[in-house]
Amino acid sequence: MQNVFELEHPLAAHHLSILRDTSTSPAQFRIQIQLLSMLLAVRATDDLLLTPSKVQTPLTEMAGKKLAQRIGVVPILRAGLGLVEPVLQLLPDAAVWHLGMYRDEATAMPVEYYCKLPSGNAVDVGFVLDPMLATGGSIKAAVAALKRWGVKDIRVLSVIAARPGVEQFHQDFPDVKIFVAAVDEVLNSHKFIVPGLGDAGDRMFNTQHD
Ligand code: PRP
Repeated sequence: MQNVFELEHPLAAHHLSILRDTSTSPAQFRIQIQLLSMLLAVRATDDLLLTPSKVQTPLTEMAGKKLAQRIGVVPILRAGLGLVEPVLQLLPDAAVWHLGMYRDEATAMPVEYYCKLPSGNAVDVGFVLDPMLATGGSIKAAVAALKRWGVKDIRVLSVIAARPGVEQFHQDFPDVKIFVAAVDEVLNSHKFIVPGLGDAGDRMFNTQHD
C-alpha cells in the first residue's frame, strides 16, 4: 500500500501486543498509547524542514537548527486525546486543534460535534491523531476539514488501521501519508477492526459498558 508507513520496530510490536490485550487496564492502556504515539511521531516527522539557528553552548557559539514549519496537531475526540501529550513532547510549539467526532453506531458514519478550525492562516503541516482507523470515515472527515482550512501537508497518526478503511481513505486522499503501528486485515459486521483492540476511547477512558 502506497503512503502507508507501518512501524517495524521491536518496541512497537512489544507495546502494541500489550495494548491489544483485553486484560490490559485503562491506566496501562493509556501508557501504551503514549509510547506508541511517540514512536509514530518520530517516524512521521523525519522529513520536517529545518532552518539554521545560532546556539550558544557553555563553551562557544555554534550553528544549530530549529524546526522551520508551523505545525498543527489535530486530535479527533475522544480517543485522539490520548496521543496529544506524547506528540506535544516532541513538538512543543505545535498548535492543537480539536475535532469532535463520533461514529454513529447504526450507520458507522462520522458525526461531527466540535470544530473550531479558523478560516485562514493555515499551519504548514497538520498531524491528525486518532488511534483507530476503521472504515476511515472519521479520519476522512478530519482531513477534509484540514484541506478546507488550507493545510497542504497533512499526515495521519493512527495506532491500528484496517486495510479496507485505508484503501477507502486513499481513494479520496491518495497523497496523505498514514503512519500506523499495525494494519489489520478486516472489519467485522459492526465495522470493528479485527483483531484490533476493541473500542480505544472506551478502553482509554474506562467507559466500557455491555
Ligand atoms: C472511534 C475511533 C475513531 C473512529 C474510527 O471513535 O476512535 O475516531 O471510531 O472509526 P471509522 O474509521 O470507521 O470512522 P468513536 O466513534 O468510538 O468515538 P470516541 O473516540 O469518542 O470513543
